[in-house]
Amino acid sequence: MCSSIDNLIFFVMRAITLFCFVMAMTISCCRNSDLSICPDIVPFPQEMTLSRGTFDVAGASIIVSEELDGLSKKYIADFASHLSEITGVKEGTSRNRIVFMREESMQPSCDSTFFKVDQSYSIDISRRSVLVKAGSMNGFVYAVQTLKQMLPVEIYGTGQASDAEWTLPCCTVKDSPRFGYRGMLLDVSRYFSTVDEIKKFIDMMEISKMNVFHWHLTDDQGWRIEIKKYPELTATGSKRRHTLVGHHHVSNTYDGRPYGEGMWYSHEQVREVVDYAASKGITVIPEIDLPGHMMGALAAYPELGCTGGPYEVWGKWGISNDVLCAGKDASYVFLKNVLEEVCELFPSEYIHIGGDECPKTRWEMCPRCQAMIAELGLIDDERHSAEHYLQSHVMKQMSDFLAERGKKILCWEEVLQGEVAPGATVMAWRKNKYGHQAARLGHDAVMTTRTHLYLDRYQSEDKGNEPLAHSSYLPVSMVWSYDPFISEDEDAEPLTDEQKSHIIGIQSNVWREYIPNNNHLEYMVYPRMAAVAEVQWLMPENKDWSRFRKGLDKMRRVYDIMGYGYALHVWNEEQIPE
Ligand code: ACM
Ligand code: ZN
Repeated sequence: MCSSIDNLIFFVMRAITLFCFVMAMTISCCRNSDLSICPDIVPFPQEMTLSRGTFDVAGASIIVSEELDGLSKKYIADFASHLSEITGVKEGTSRNRIVFMREESMQPSCDSTFFKVDQSYSIDISRRSVLVKAGSMNGFVYAVQTLKQMLPVEIYGTGQASDAEWTLPCCTVKDSPRFGYRGMLLDVSRYFSTVDEIKKFIDMMEISKMNVFHWHLTDDQGWRIEIKKYPELTATGSKRRHTLVGHHHVSNTYDGRPYGEGMWYSHEQVREVVDYAASKGITVIPEIDLPGHMMGALAAYPELGCTGGPYEVWGKWGISNDVLCAGKDASYVFLKNVLEEVCELFPSEYIHIGGDECPKTRWEMCPRCQAMIAELGLIDDERHSAEHYLQSHVMKQMSDFLAERGKKILCWEEVLQGEVAPGATVMAWRKNKYGHQAARLGHDAVMTTRTHLYLDRYQSEDKGNEPLAHSSYLPVSMVWSYDPFISEDEDAEPLTDEQKSHIIGIQSNVWREYIPNNNHLEYMVYPRMAAVAEVQWLMPENKDWSRFRKGLDKMRRVYDIMGYGYALHVWNEEQIPE
């Protein structure tokens, strides 16, 4: 009896000693931890605990559980073959193992259920094994990205780098995104991006653990997606006579050079981009901006405007008074035919149908629009005009049409001026408060608030030494500090938890009025996109500026190795932009 109590005491003491020893060897890598040992990962995982020791990666066997879907298997196989190539050691030549397995219903620390997909993952690294668990392709993508960021930066290159130290730190990571929807918008109407340039943009979205590429395909300055039923959209609507030089509020000068010949995407190219993005867990959401921002379409089919034209594809920036006529049946037929082709091309559940900046000037004067208003019984009220309700009617028609095809609409916040179509997701762009208004009405909202998330803004207060950009100043630190729940209305009640759950995501927008080519684009986008990623992914209580700032130093090396341009302001260096 006595000896069994002694044994028990001995056992408990051993357990306590072992526990203390393990605790001394592990360090939580969240806020305020020792940055010198913290891996440089952007966006940083929600939870990371380091322990002593490393895992040798070169030659490890990569074991993938049978039950994984084909896309996940392919993604991991590509990672494995890249690892062999870069390390110069064939897979399976050491006793070490990296195991990928499926684990359903891991508990996300936040709302990460956008697209009804569990986006969480975990990684457990010990000296002999790495165990990666996720419930979906997206989780595996994010796990692989975290592993890559913990490896030597040479992993981002293409040439063999056998001299690098191919180890991973022993640690555990438990991670899931703060927001289910994490997007980037690219405007290809004002200035065009080739398919290769878009793929390069998507590659950095993948590294940044983003999951939505919002492709702004049509606007006043050029229609850029092939619609087989309306060939003039691209034949005529993609080309403009000339382009404004300087800021649109002050300049009246044009460059005299035609722009846009051949600058549109065929169905084949669209599919190529959609498939490429899907192979990285990224959904492409196309935007057909309607019923305003339609000069590309009106130049091609003037009969769709209120006055009948003639119209030309705009060479200037701003908001056109000429919009699609909402009183002609032909306009609705046109929009539905266009959206029909769009639905066939894009598997995304969401289709963006614009709705922003649609002046009502023409509709007020147009007999057909007024007849439609009378027929629908629309009247002015204390909040909105009959013409605003006419726009709601257009949006609702498109929403119903898309719903029949299993799609949901995304639209800009102006849809709040009237009746929002049932089930519409609202994209707030001027102020947070419009996203909050949508959430209070029970609509989902994605926040793209321009003060903090429009990457066409200046990166320095010394604007004279910067390339022409849009109005205000937006440094990396300001992007990083964005808070979607702050309201510009001081008197506004805070959102309830239920209302907050309608804020499903954050997106940054790259409008191109002042971004004519890809070098300039990269100068505007990087490294601010890294700050966007951290805002989208990380819970506010897990953010740490010093850790992020150190992570950017690593990101800069990634940009260098992968051939991305970037702005240097955050590194406080002089840069002569192109
Ligand atoms: C927008 O910036 N007009 C959505
Ligand atoms: Zn009209």
